[in-house]
Amino acid sequence: MDKKVTVVGAGNVGATAAQRLAEKQLCDVVLVDIAEGLPQGKALDLAEAAPVEKHDSGLVGTNSYEQTADSDIVIITAGIPRKPGMSRDDLLKTNSDIMKNVARSVAEKSPDAILIIVSNPLDAMCHVAYEASGFDKKKVLGMAGVLDSARFRTFIARELNVSVENTHAFVLGGHGDTMVPLPRFSTVAGIPITELMSRDRIDALVDRTRNGGAEIVSLLKTGSAFYAPASAAVEMAESILKDKKKILPCAAMLEGEYGIKGLFIGVPVKLGSTGIEQVVEIKLTDEEAAALQKSADAVRSLVDAMAAL
Ligand code: LAC
Repeated sequence: MDKKVTVVGAGNVGATAAQRLAEKQLCDVVLVDIAEGLPQGKALDLAEAAPVEKHDSGLVGTNSYEQTADSDIVIITAGIPRKPGMSRDDLLKTNSDIMKNVARSVAEKSPDAILIIVSNPLDAMCHVAYEASGFDKKKVLGMAGVLDSARFRTFIARELNVSVENTHAFVLGGHGDTMVPLPRFSTVAGIPITELMSRDRIDALVDRTRNGGAEIVSLLKTGSAFYAPASAAVEMAESILKDKKKILPCAAMLEGEYGIKGLFIGVPVKLGSTGIEQVVEIKLTDEEAAALQKSADAVRSLVDAMAAL
């Protein structure tokens, strides 16, 4: 393959992302983890599935960063996941230390890579990766909006008994309880859901979307979601690797867009081979703008708390 993607963290999200990248034949994959044998074992197991799955993507597992050199993209999933009763914010200290080390090591070996951050608390971890890597803001983005939108789309499709393929949804803001699903821009076959459902039903689906991560944590009991988070990260990677220029909701460093400055927050961006090629600004109603501002305030307080650690 002429493209190379490193996935840091060989846990459930990382290994599932590696599987999807390889099986879609998007790139060669390097799986990195500090646990001895884990990335090697999972990469070998995935490679041994290749003859049956019919792909020729290279797969290696390693405990060091040597083999990650010159990656086009690095997906960082390293960190501890939530346990029942924990918020994403409870992970702040442990995961920011891990992220700092990972981002530095990655940047040293792959100075031109684009970073897709998956670890939680997402928006704050993007900050850590951005500062530790020293990369341009176009090359650091966070996976959250694609996942949150996919959850909203799933609930919309089930509610209306239509194909998920007919659905489109937009979720902005931080990846937390203050995220901002936008019903006005969420559609079924192009029709806004505000014309297809009552306000009460929309509110219920919005609420379920906001708590989508916690719903899975409480069901699994020993970890958090990984199939849908991995799918979302891979959709972002694919748009970059193939220079598709898809517009996807991602956490991006804003410098005045949407009236927000110096903060990573979920907004629609155009993703191509150079990373974030454009932040798409849509005109929000007063109510939507206030919700986005509230979400930004929540992210700001986490970033401030991190600085004080
Ligand atoms: C979730 C975690 C991955 O939303 O943040 O499931």
